[in-house]
Amino acid sequence: MNLKGRDFLKLLDYTPEEIEYLLDLAAELKDKKKRGEAHAVYPTKNVALIFEKTSTRTRCAFEVAAHDLGMGSTYLDPVASQIGHKESIADTAKVLSRMFDGIEYRGFEQTIVEELAEHSDVPVWNGLTNEFHPTQMLADLLTIREHFGHLKGIHLCYFGDARYNTGNSLMVACAKMGMHFTAVSNKKYFPSKELTDECIRIAETTGGQIDFFEDPIAASKGADVIATDIWVSMGEPDDVWEERIADLSPYKVTMDIMDNAGEGAVFMHCLPSYHDLNTKMGVKIKEKFGLDDMEVTDEVFTSERSLVFDEAENRMHTIKAVMYATL
Ligand code: CP
Ligand code: NVA
Repeated sequence: MNLKGRDFLKLLDYTPEEIEYLLDLAAELKDKKKRGEAHAVYPTKNVALIFEKTSTRTRCAFEVAAHDLGMGSTYLDPVASQIGHKESIADTAKVLSRMFDGIEYRGFEQTIVEELAEHSDVPVWNGLTNEFHPTQMLADLLTIREHFGHLKGIHLCYFGDARYNTGNSLMVACAKMGMHFTAVSNKKYFPSKELTDECIRIAETTGGQIDFFEDPIAASKGADVIATDIWVSMGEPDDVWEERIADLSPYKVTMDIMDNAGEGAVFMHCLPSYHDLNTKMGVKIKEKFGLDDMEVTDEVFTSERSLVFDEAENRMHTIKAVMYATL
């Protein structure tokens, strides 16, 4: 398998075999890291990390992974660079390609990262757009594979806002890997027909399955993985909160949902999560809407069935695999 020079913009661009290869590579690099075996294979390379939205996991994962591979990294924050304000995406791509060996981009529309890649001479990696979050998917797949020992046939039931980056990407990931994806939500929050049709076509070739439900109990019965994400994503306006809470409150992940899924079911969330009142935003929502939690209860989040911190750790090992393979 040779992925040298390839961009990593969305999972749709990768075959199931290529995704499996990246997961195997991530597992190997994780093992090396745990054993304390150095793997600084790229001492002469440098990567640029562009963040037009904030981040904890993705930024840290790229920086630690780059360092472990022996590379230098430069972080461009949401306000300090010229990108988009004084300099076009195309010009930025050309400039950065002269200095760096790879470019990570987190921002708004998927078209921006696609444009950056088109004008760049070095690999571009999508660190999250409104539509897709592909590096998160590798971490999620690795976490599921570690827990269940395989991916094929695993039933992942996704609660809440299924039409944004995480929901869209999980549907693609499940279709690619022959898994069963169920989205359960208010109809307004289902992925677009275009993406759904594409995923159904992919699932037909991989043995996967795609379903949509409005009833949380019917949807989650017997599921292996219950997954969710925050109800209002980065970049969305504050005035959507009220409607979002009204629409998605029936789709909170509770212990009843976990029990309905079954004894072996696990909980996953890309994080950050509003599961308690230990955030400024959580307190604001409590004052305005009276909620103690949102997409998941603290009981589920902190339970033994929650894989969220394994998932967060795996961001680093999988992002390292992407850089290792494409550079
Ligand atoms: N899951 C994820 O992308 O987290 P950050 O926003 O902290 O990078
Ligand atoms: N849907 C979330 C994912 C965060 C990792 C957002 O875009 O804010």
